[in-house]
Amino acid sequence: MDERAWADGVSEKIKRKVRIVAERSRDKIPYTTVDGRFDDRRKKNICWWTNGFWAGMLWQLYHATGDMLYRQIAQENETWLDENLMIAQGLDHDNGFKWLLTAVADYRATGSLASQNRGLLAAGHLAGRFNPVGRFLRAWNDGGDGGKAGWAIIDSMMNLPLLYWAWEETNDPRFYHIATMHADTVETYFLRPDGSAKHIVEFHAGTGEYVQSFGGQGVATGSAWTRGQAWALYGFTLSYLHTKEKRYLDDAKRIAHYFVANLPESGLVPVDFRQPKDCAWEDSTAAAIAACGLLEIDRCVPEQEKGLYARAALRLLHALEEKRCRWDTDCDNILEKCTAAYHDKEHEVSLIYGDYFLTEAIWKLTGQELFLW
Ligand code: GLY
Repeated sequence: MDERAWADGVSEKIKRKVRIVAERSRDKIPYTTVDGRFDDRRKKNICWWTNGFWAGMLWQLYHATGDMLYRQIAQENETWLDENLMIAQGLDHDNGFKWLLTAVADYRATGSLASQNRGLLAAGHLAGRFNPVGRFLRAWNDGGDGGKAGWAIIDSMMNLPLLYWAWEETNDPRFYHIATMHADTVETYFLRPDGSAKHIVEFHAGTGEYVQSFGGQGVATGSAWTRGQAWALYGFTLSYLHTKEKRYLDDAKRIAHYFVANLPESGLVPVDFRQPKDCAWEDSTAAAIAACGLLEIDRCVPEQEKGLYARAALRLLHALEEKRCRWDTDCDNILEKCTAAYHDKEHEVSLIYGDYFLTEAIWKLTGQELFLW
């Protein structure tokens, strides 16, 4: 098969569908769909961690088409998030997901200084979550009792690019040092020898000592939550891209090898690689995120290593396109069978970041990507 022609075809389908969906979703920041229509996190929770992905997707569409509709909606989303910038309890390790894909994307696309300012505010806050004795970025907030002050999570790896961006923007090496010290801590305490990654690690917030790990959104302690594997795979690749430190690329490759070795025959990704054999729950977001990371690894490795990573990415993307994509406009989402967490009540729904990473992966293949990380 001509993979470029295939990707061009998928790209056209994304463009056709998102144009119609964007028109009818103007006033929303979507997370999932209810009866086929996007919900609205702007009203429900302006601080929700996924509130940047719809804008990020629209920036990708704007970059590929020049259609001002996408830019206008993305910029509206960005200004709505200013409310979040003033809510301390609503800011956390996910600042990167929210402001890289909105404000920093706007700054990259248009040079807007107001957007650059938002990005720097978000980066400064993220840097302020650094625990210097444990050398990690604190994850979630808690009720103020400090119960989660020592928690770090694998998702944070995808937010480090906000710090790398701030370092590149300001020439202030504090951002670089915080990002790389955190990445080194994750390498030491989250990555297992087999290439799998833990979701949550708790350190003693006062001394920095390792305490324990948790299964988090996966099955249990010791399991391998697939979206966490994907965050680690792509996240370490991004740390390599920004720092050129080879150890991060080696980490990303090791995680990729674990991911590819555990892929089911179908190419469809379970919620956890270690979920019970009789559980068939899938998470299409993990597939789309991993595909993005694999394609980037393929660009970084020497000639004789290429192929493995791109082939695996294509396998994931073909499986999604053939079996898990909705191209009709009866529903607003594209990807189906996305799962937020193994122990949630609901599984296999639509999740906006699945659509974002699917688009990014296809754009990587067609050369239309606006690099946002
Ligand atoms: N950042 C949370 C998640 O991946 O579900």
